[in-house]
Amino acid sequence: MNIQAIKGVKDILPGEVEVWQYIENKARAVFETYGFSEIRAPIFEYTELFSRSIGETTDIVEKEMYTFEESAGKKVTLRPEGTAPVVRAYIEHQLYNKSHITKLYYFGPMFRHERPQAGRYRQFYQIGAEVLGIDSPLLDAEVLSMLSNIMEAIDIKGLDLQINSLGCKDCRPKYKEALKQFLKDKHPVLCENCQRRMDRNPLRVLDCKGKTCKDAVKDAPVILDYLCDGCKKHFDKVNDTLNTLKVPYSMNPRLVRGLDYYTKTTFELVSTNLGAQNAVAAGGRYDGLVEELGGPKTPGIGFAIGMERLASLMEKGNFKTNKPDIFIATLGAQAKYMSVILMDSNPNHILKISKSHPILKIPFYTLQDSFVLKF
Ligand code: HAM
Repeated sequence: MNIQAIKGVKDILPGEVEVWQYIENKARAVFETYGFSEIRAPIFEYTELFSRSIGETTDIVEKEMYTFEESAGKKVTLRPEGTAPVVRAYIEHQLYNKSHITKLYYFGPMFRHERPQAGRYRQFYQIGAEVLGIDSPLLDAEVLSMLSNIMEAIDIKGLDLQINSLGCKDCRPKYKEALKQFLKDKHPVLCENCQRRMDRNPLRVLDCKGKTCKDAVKDAPVILDYLCDGCKKHFDKVNDTLNTLKVPYSMNPRLVRGLDYYTKTTFELVSTNLGAQNAVAAGGRYDGLVEELGGPKTPGIGFAIGMERLASLMEKGNFKTNKPDIFIATLGAQAKYMSVILMDSNPNHILKISKSHPILKIPFYTLQDSFVLKF
């Protein structure tokens, strides 16, 4: 029997791996100019971390997590996203005591049991960035500008940065109430999931991909009309600063994210060159998350880029692959033997350079001074 890869996962083969490495190197270079450091968190965590941060009534927590029992009564989950593990590590290692601002980036696989389709996988990779400690709208604009600079460094065209504000714990309840009232009449046409979640988390209905639900919320109230003065001022400043930085964006007052931890600024970077799964990157502010997970009151903001989607937008030829500088061709058994020794790149091994070829400028090697290789 042929054993094949699991449905919804993908091998990244040579040829494509170079594209990934190119993207990772460009992203890493941009992160480092902005003063970010890399963090490597485990790929599995206690399930509670995700249910408490992403939200009990989200699709991810309700039906997409790979969860298993690690020991009696202790459930663990393959991470469906990277923000919660980073925040858990930030609290556990008290990074807030080291600096008033912490800027972290990460690369790695995430796992969601979604229905596979083009651009949607069950194991997918993200490049993520998180900034903890500062609540200024200037930081929101800086983070968005950094995301846009990564895309520019990789030369990706046809992107639309859509932004919205989801308000805070003071103004969002008023909006939720207005939305609930609006949804009351729509109850019969909503899908089962939305009917069930409508009361506890009406924002989820706005995020439903079902056609009847989408149609039903066309005229729903928008959160921007319900923002408190603080959130409104914050959002205006983000917009102003993006204009000054010349970061192109558009307003999407219907943008709600599939994770519950967001507050204030939220965003998605969508591509006109992808199909239904058109979000290349997404993120936002999460000012209550650190506290929710047991840390001190600390604001945060970040984003994650979907590697598979970004790589699929790359045109071949946009990147350089590593080509060898020297190729050794052999004729005969002894030459083959020598070539293995020559290819050992460690200079402390038995070879040492004796002199350079006068024309080719390629080094001559001697084997323990007794074996001269001539070109
Ligand atoms: P997210 O919107 O769930 O946010 O995922 C971010 C990006 O990951 C998406 O825009 C998409 O490109 C990619 N992605 C998500 N699911 C899949 C999938 N099943 N297959 C392929 N690609 C996928 C988060 O994960 C947040 N943690 C982002 C964030 C960081 N917010 C603040 N900081």
